[in-house]
Amino acid sequence: MLLESAVRCRLTGEPLAWITGMVSFCGVNVRVDPCVYVPRWLSEPLARRAVDRLPEQGTAIDVCTGSGAIARVLREHRPRARVVASDVDARAVACAAANGVEVYGGDLFAPLPGELAGAVDVVVGVVPYVPTPELSLLQRDTFTFETPLSYDGGPDGTGILRRVIRDSPGYLRPGAALLLEVGGDQAGLLTDELVRHGFSDLIILTDEDGDARGLEATFGHATAAA
Ligand SMILES: C[S@@+](CC[C@H](N)C(=O)[O-])C[C@H]1O[C@@H](n2cnc3c(N)ncnc32)[C@H](O)[C@@H]1O
Repeated sequence: MLLESAVRCRLTGEPLAWITGMVSFCGVNVRVDPCVYVPRWLSEPLARRAVDRLPEQGTAIDVCTGSGAIARVLREHRPRARVVASDVDARAVACAAANGVEVYGGDLFAPLPGELAGAVDVVVGVVPYVPTPELSLLQRDTFTFETPLSYDGGPDGTGILRRVIRDSPGYLRPGAALLLEVGGDQAGLLTDELVRHGFSDLIILTDEDGDARGLEATFGHATAAA
Protein backbone atom coordinates (compact mmCIF):
# COMPACT_ATOMS: atom_id res chain seq x y z
CA MET A 1 0.00 0.00 0.00
CA LEU A 2 2.77 2.36 1.04
CA LEU A 3 4.77 1.32 -2.02
CA GLU A 4 1.77 1.83 -4.31
CA SER A 5 1.19 5.33 -3.00
CA ALA A 6 4.91 6.14 -3.33
CA VAL A 7 4.89 4.93 -6.95
CA ARG A 8 1.75 6.97 -7.65
CA CYS A 9 3.51 10.10 -6.33
CA ARG A 10 6.61 9.37 -8.38
CA LEU A 11 4.55 8.98 -11.55
CA THR A 12 3.32 12.55 -11.11
CA GLY A 13 6.95 13.67 -11.35
CA GLU A 14 7.34 14.43 -7.64
CA PRO A 15 11.06 14.29 -6.75
CA LEU A 16 12.06 10.89 -5.32
CA ALA A 17 13.83 12.56 -2.39
CA TRP A 18 10.56 14.17 -1.29
CA ILE A 19 8.83 10.79 -1.34
CA THR A 20 11.57 8.95 0.58
CA GLY A 21 12.45 12.06 2.64
CA MET A 22 16.15 11.43 2.12
CA VAL A 23 19.00 11.78 -0.35
CA SER A 24 22.64 10.74 -0.25
CA PHE A 25 24.96 13.71 -0.84
CA CYS A 26 28.73 13.14 -0.78
CA GLY A 27 27.93 9.85 0.94
CA VAL A 28 26.03 11.58 3.74
CA ASN A 29 22.30 10.95 4.27
CA VAL A 30 20.48 14.27 4.14
CA ARG A 31 16.83 14.73 5.06
CA VAL A 32 14.89 16.57 2.36
CA ASP A 33 11.41 17.83 3.21
CA PRO A 34 8.69 18.45 0.62
CA CYS A 35 9.14 21.77 -1.23
CA VAL A 36 12.84 21.99 -0.27
CA TYR A 37 15.41 21.93 -3.12
CA VAL A 38 16.87 18.46 -3.64
CA PRO A 39 20.69 18.61 -3.50
CA ARG A 40 22.22 17.57 -6.84
CA TRP A 41 25.18 15.28 -7.42
CA LEU A 42 26.74 17.94 -9.65
CA SER A 43 27.21 20.09 -6.51
CA GLU A 44 29.22 17.39 -4.75
CA PRO A 45 32.68 18.41 -6.08
CA LEU A 46 32.07 21.96 -4.81
CA ALA A 47 31.14 20.63 -1.38
CA ARG A 48 34.30 18.49 -1.34
CA ARG A 49 36.45 21.53 -2.26
CA ALA A 50 34.82 23.40 0.61
CA VAL A 51 35.81 20.56 2.97
CA ASP A 52 39.39 20.75 1.65
CA ARG A 53 39.56 24.50 2.32
CA LEU A 54 38.06 24.34 5.82
CA PRO A 55 40.58 23.97 8.67
CA GLU A 56 39.76 21.42 11.41
CA GLN A 57 38.64 24.15 13.80
CA GLY A 58 37.73 26.73 11.18
CA THR A 59 34.50 28.50 10.37
CA ALA A 60 32.34 28.18 7.28
CA ILE A 61 29.20 29.81 5.92
CA ASP A 62 26.89 27.96 3.51
CA VAL A 63 24.65 30.60 1.93
CA CYS A 64 21.35 29.52 0.33
CA THR A 65 21.68 26.22 2.17
CA GLY A 66 18.33 24.63 1.20
CA SER A 67 18.16 21.30 3.05
CA GLY A 68 21.55 22.11 4.58
CA ALA A 69 23.30 19.44 2.51
CA ILE A 70 26.64 21.22 2.04
CA ALA A 71 26.72 22.42 5.66
CA ARG A 72 25.95 18.86 6.76
CA VAL A 73 28.87 17.47 4.71
CA LEU A 74 31.20 20.13 6.15
CA ARG A 75 30.13 19.17 9.68
CA GLU A 76 30.60 15.48 8.93
CA HIS A 77 34.21 16.01 7.79
CA ARG A 78 35.13 18.86 10.13
CA PRO A 79 33.24 18.08 13.37
CA ARG A 80 35.28 20.64 15.35
CA ALA A 81 34.63 23.47 12.89
CA ARG A 82 31.75 25.93 13.18
CA VAL A 83 29.45 25.75 10.19
CA VAL A 84 26.59 28.22 9.84
CA ALA A 85 24.05 28.55 7.07
CA SER A 86 21.26 30.76 5.82
CA ASP A 87 18.21 30.47 3.62
CA VAL A 88 15.36 32.82 2.90
CA ASP A 89 12.72 30.04 2.72
CA ALA A 90 11.28 29.02 6.11
CA ARG A 91 10.72 25.42 4.89
CA ALA A 92 14.39 25.14 3.96
CA VAL A 93 15.46 26.61 7.31
CA ALA A 94 13.34 24.04 9.18
CA CYS A 95 14.76 21.20 7.06
CA ALA A 96 18.38 22.32 7.53
CA ALA A 97 17.79 22.63 11.28
CA ALA A 98 16.37 19.07 11.28
CA ASN A 99 19.65 18.04 9.62
CA GLY A 100 21.50 19.47 12.61
CA VAL A 101 22.71 22.62 10.87
CA GLU A 102 23.14 25.96 12.68
CA VAL A 103 20.87 27.80 10.27
CA TYR A 104 19.42 31.32 10.17
CA GLY A 105 16.41 32.51 8.20
CA GLY A 106 16.85 35.53 5.94
CA ASP A 107 18.63 37.05 2.97
CA LEU A 108 22.19 35.76 2.34
CA PHE A 109 24.47 37.14 5.10
CA ALA A 110 21.91 39.44 6.75
CA PRO A 111 20.68 37.02 9.46
CA LEU A 112 24.12 35.68 10.44
CA PRO A 113 25.70 36.39 13.84
CA GLY A 114 27.86 39.54 13.85
CA GLU A 115 30.83 37.78 15.46
CA LEU A 116 31.52 36.01 12.15
CA ALA A 117 32.73 39.24 10.51
CA GLY A 118 36.35 38.81 9.39
CA ALA A 119 36.60 35.34 11.00
CA VAL A 120 35.39 32.96 8.30
CA ASP A 121 37.59 30.46 6.40
CA VAL A 122 35.10 29.35 3.74
CA VAL A 123 32.00 30.84 2.16
CA VAL A 124 30.28 28.30 -0.08
CA GLY A 125 27.05 28.61 -2.01
CA VAL A 126 24.87 26.85 -4.51
CA VAL A 127 22.73 29.94 -4.98
CA PRO A 128 20.01 30.48 -7.61
CA TYR A 129 21.86 31.11 -10.90
CA VAL A 130 19.52 30.29 -13.77
CA PRO A 131 18.94 33.33 -16.03
CA THR A 132 15.28 34.36 -15.76
CA PRO A 133 14.66 33.95 -19.52
CA GLU A 134 15.91 30.34 -19.27
CA LEU A 135 13.63 29.25 -16.41
CA SER A 136 11.10 27.99 -18.95
CA LEU A 137 13.75 25.67 -20.42
CA LEU A 138 14.18 23.71 -17.16
CA GLN A 139 12.92 20.13 -16.97
CA ARG A 140 9.18 19.79 -17.64
CA ASP A 141 8.00 19.18 -14.06
CA THR A 142 10.35 21.54 -12.26
CA PHE A 143 7.86 24.22 -11.26
CA THR A 144 4.97 21.81 -10.74
CA PHE A 145 6.82 20.97 -7.54
CA GLU A 146 9.66 23.44 -6.96
CA THR A 147 9.77 27.19 -6.53
CA PRO A 148 11.59 29.64 -8.86
CA LEU A 149 13.14 31.01 -5.64
CA SER A 150 15.61 28.12 -5.84
CA TYR A 151 16.59 28.83 -9.44
CA ASP A 152 15.98 32.43 -10.52
CA GLY A 153 19.28 34.32 -10.68
CA GLY A 154 17.94 37.40 -12.49
CA PRO A 155 18.41 38.55 -16.11
CA ASP A 156 21.80 36.83 -16.74
CA GLY A 157 21.67 34.50 -13.71
CA THR A 158 24.46 36.28 -11.84
CA GLY A 159 22.39 38.61 -9.64
CA ILE A 160 22.70 36.64 -6.40
CA LEU A 161 26.21 35.39 -7.26
CA ARG A 162 27.36 39.04 -7.54
CA ARG A 163 25.77 39.90 -4.21
CA VAL A 164 27.62 37.02 -2.53
CA ILE A 165 30.91 38.16 -4.10
CA ARG A 166 30.26 41.74 -2.96
CA ASP A 167 29.19 40.88 0.61
CA SER A 168 31.41 37.91 1.51
CA PRO A 169 34.62 39.99 2.03
CA GLY A 170 33.00 41.41 5.17
CA TYR A 171 33.11 37.89 6.63
CA LEU A 172 36.24 36.31 5.18
CA ARG A 173 39.65 36.39 6.82
CA PRO A 174 42.68 36.92 4.51
CA GLY A 175 43.50 33.68 2.69
CA ALA A 176 39.96 32.33 3.03
CA ALA A 177 38.02 30.67 0.21
CA LEU A 178 34.91 31.59 -1.71
CA LEU A 179 33.31 28.69 -3.58
CA LEU A 180 30.28 29.19 -5.83
CA GLU A 181 28.43 26.95 -8.24
CA VAL A 182 27.95 28.56 -11.66
CA GLY A 183 26.52 27.62 -15.03
CA GLY A 184 27.08 28.50 -18.69
CA ASP A 185 29.53 31.37 -19.20
CA GLN A 186 29.04 32.85 -15.72
CA ALA A 187 32.60 32.08 -14.57
CA GLY A 188 33.94 34.52 -17.18
CA LEU A 189 31.26 37.08 -16.39
CA LEU A 190 32.27 37.13 -12.72
CA THR A 191 36.06 37.35 -12.97
CA ASP A 192 36.26 41.16 -12.89
CA GLU A 193 33.79 41.28 -10.01
CA LEU A 194 35.95 38.89 -7.98
CA VAL A 195 39.13 40.88 -8.59
CA ARG A 196 37.35 44.16 -7.77
CA HIS A 197 36.31 42.75 -4.39
CA GLY A 198 39.79 41.60 -3.42
CA PHE A 199 39.83 37.97 -4.59
CA SER A 200 42.75 36.27 -6.32
CA ASP A 201 43.95 32.78 -7.31
CA LEU A 202 40.78 32.20 -9.28
CA ILE A 203 40.15 28.56 -10.21
CA ILE A 204 37.34 27.48 -12.52
CA LEU A 205 36.04 24.06 -11.48
CA THR A 206 34.97 21.99 -14.47
CA ASP A 207 32.96 18.79 -14.80
CA GLU A 208 34.00 15.70 -16.78
CA ASP A 209 32.70 17.30 -20.00
CA GLY A 210 34.93 20.32 -19.40
CA ASP A 211 31.99 22.63 -18.61
CA ALA A 212 32.52 25.29 -15.93
CA ARG A 213 30.53 24.26 -12.83
CA GLY A 214 32.12 26.23 -10.07
CA LEU A 215 34.39 29.06 -9.04
CA GLU A 216 36.99 28.94 -6.30
CA ALA A 217 38.74 32.15 -5.25
CA THR A 218 40.98 33.20 -2.39
CA PHE A 219 40.36 36.39 -0.45
CA GLY A 220 42.97 38.95 0.21
CA HIS A 221 46.28 37.85 -1.25
CA ALA A 222 47.61 36.30 -4.42
CA THR A 223 49.95 33.30 -4.33
CA ALA A 224 53.42 34.42 -5.43
CA ALA A 225 54.17 33.32 -9.00
CA ALA A 226 56.58 30.36 -9.24
C1 LIG B 1 19.57 26.05 -5.81
S1 LIG B 1 18.95 25.92 -4.17
C2 LIG B 1 20.41 25.23 -3.39
C3 LIG B 1 20.20 24.65 -2.03
C4 LIG B 1 21.43 23.97 -1.46
N1 LIG B 1 22.57 24.88 -1.42
C5 LIG B 1 21.79 22.72 -2.23
O1 LIG B 1 22.75 22.73 -2.99
O2 LIG B 1 21.07 21.72 -2.08
C6 LIG B 1 18.98 27.63 -3.71
C7 LIG B 1 18.44 27.96 -2.32
O3 LIG B 1 18.61 29.38 -2.14
C8 LIG B 1 17.55 29.89 -1.37
N2 LIG B 1 17.53 31.34 -1.61
C9 LIG B 1 17.09 32.00 -2.70
N3 LIG B 1 17.31 33.32 -2.57
C10 LIG B 1 17.92 33.50 -1.37
C11 LIG B 1 18.42 34.63 -0.66
N4 LIG B 1 18.34 35.87 -1.18
N5 LIG B 1 18.99 34.46 0.55
C12 LIG B 1 19.09 33.21 1.09
N6 LIG B 1 18.62 32.09 0.48
C13 LIG B 1 18.06 32.23 -0.74
C14 LIG B 1 16.35 29.09 -1.84
O4 LIG B 1 15.32 29.12 -0.87
C15 LIG B 1 16.96 27.69 -2.06
O5 LIG B 1 16.84 26.92 -0.89
